[in-house]
Amino acid sequence: MAAVQINGASHKAEILPVPTGFLGRFTEDGSLEHWELPTNPAQLEPLQRAARLLKTSNIPVGFPTETVYGLGADATRSDAVKGIYKAKGRPSDNPLIIHVADLKMLRSILQPAGEASGQPTLDSIPDIYKPLIQRFWPGPLTILLPNPAPSKLAPEVTAGLTTFGVRMPASSLAQSLIQLAGVPLAAPSANASTKPSPTTAQHVKYDLGERIDLILDGGSCQVGVESTVVDGMCTPPVVLRPGGVSIDRIRECEGWSGVVKGYKDASEIGNHAPRAPGMKYKHYSPKAKVVLFEATEYHNAGIASEVYSVIEKHQQQSDPDSLKIGIVSTKYWQDSAGFHNAKFVHEGTDITTEIVVVEQPVLVDSYLLQKGELRYKKASDNSGTKEAIFAGDVIEIKLGIETKDIAHGLFSALRELDQLNVDVIYVEGIADHSEDGDIAAAVMNRLRKAATVIEK
Ligand code: TXA
Ligand code: MG
Repeated sequence: MAAVQINGASHKAEILPVPTGFLGRFTEDGSLEHWELPTNPAQLEPLQRAARLLKTSNIPVGFPTETVYGLGADATRSDAVKGIYKAKGRPSDNPLIIHVADLKMLRSILQPAGEASGQPTLDSIPDIYKPLIQRFWPGPLTILLPNPAPSKLAPEVTAGLTTFGVRMPASSLAQSLIQLAGVPLAAPSANASTKPSPTTAQHVKYDLGERIDLILDGGSCQVGVESTVVDGMCTPPVVLRPGGVSIDRIRECEGWSGVVKGYKDASEIGNHAPRAPGMKYKHYSPKAKVVLFEATEYHNAGIASEVYSVIEKHQQQSDPDSLKIGIVSTKYWQDSAGFHNAKFVHEGTDITTEIVVVEQPVLVDSYLLQKGELRYKKASDNSGTKEAIFAGDVIEIKLGIETKDIAHGLFSALRELDQLNVDVIYVEGIADHSEDGDIAAAVMNRLRKAATVIEK
């Protein structure tokens, strides 16, 4: 990314590690009313630096949450919130999620600006959300609440809507940062607009390093996909975005048994494949073309035709050594996803392929990455004297078979393949509903948005 000047200055983000250890807790177990900071000041030093910036600067700060890294700013100051849209290159009609440290902070936002902040006589949190808050907060669930008029929140946060989205992150680092800043933090995912969300401090630096000054490093995010966004202010209540809390678990809560999906899943979009180029709403997208295979009973069924087209592409390539293929496999694809030992007829000739491993698999974060070469032989070459022809480099990532591991590694894998400059990424989708209560729907929602082509 070219150096970008914001507010007349160019930036070089510093990655500031936050020591692991005790970073705070709720005063009384279960009440979520008040977040208490740790008493050891050394522990808080990096967070204090970030909090100072949040209070005084209009340049947002990168910080980890349990879902993805956020790009945080004081949600009560317009100039600070505008800084988020500038740094991300995000359209300002897309509202931001507010992050609170505890319920006391949430109640304060629900009170109109200027009203004395004594003891509110009525509980301002709508009853419909109480079972969700009790069960899922702190955690990856965002709820929509009516924005009071006049509001303490900067108008840029809500993009003109009458509601605001809020969550209490399950990261004591994030909670203590918010508490030290003393204000709710508006924070979208800390990626450049259209790119996959960041799950490490390095991802944030890669996208926004020249646009912000500071990124707190708390290691890789546990969940790996963003929060579930729900609207309980309408009937029936709606899940607007699938995320780290599954719809099954939400449905179990009082008042939420009739919750409906306000997003499209396989039943609506899986049928329109392949989609016309340019028609997709670009989001979560690496540079490479992404070909997503919807989960089917016939594992690897679709990929055979891809092997054929890769070989064909190789034969047309002006620089025959340049083709790079990425594979992201999940639950069922076999090694090399069918690229190894494929047999087909091309222009009347029998062709067989092989994958030659050039680097043994390495564990990157939570997934396995292996590098190999795709080679092919024509039937007439099978005399044993001729070597197989090189068709392309193949970089294969295995995310694991557990949905939580797939979610955890997904964005990181797409980013890794992008940095290795692959031309195309073949991804093995999973069933929207693979196991009761897991977050497969969130994984598939992100993948369908990232995909250039969806194969059924
Ligand atoms: O896990 C997460 O939610 C992460 C971390 C950083 O907390 N944040 C995040 O924010 O994903 P962002 O800005 O990338 O996504 C915000 C989502 C969008 O889909 C937006 O449309 C929706 O929340 N949203 C926010 N406020 C809303 C509102 N008032 N009405 C409807 N949708 C809203
Ligand atoms: Mg985002």
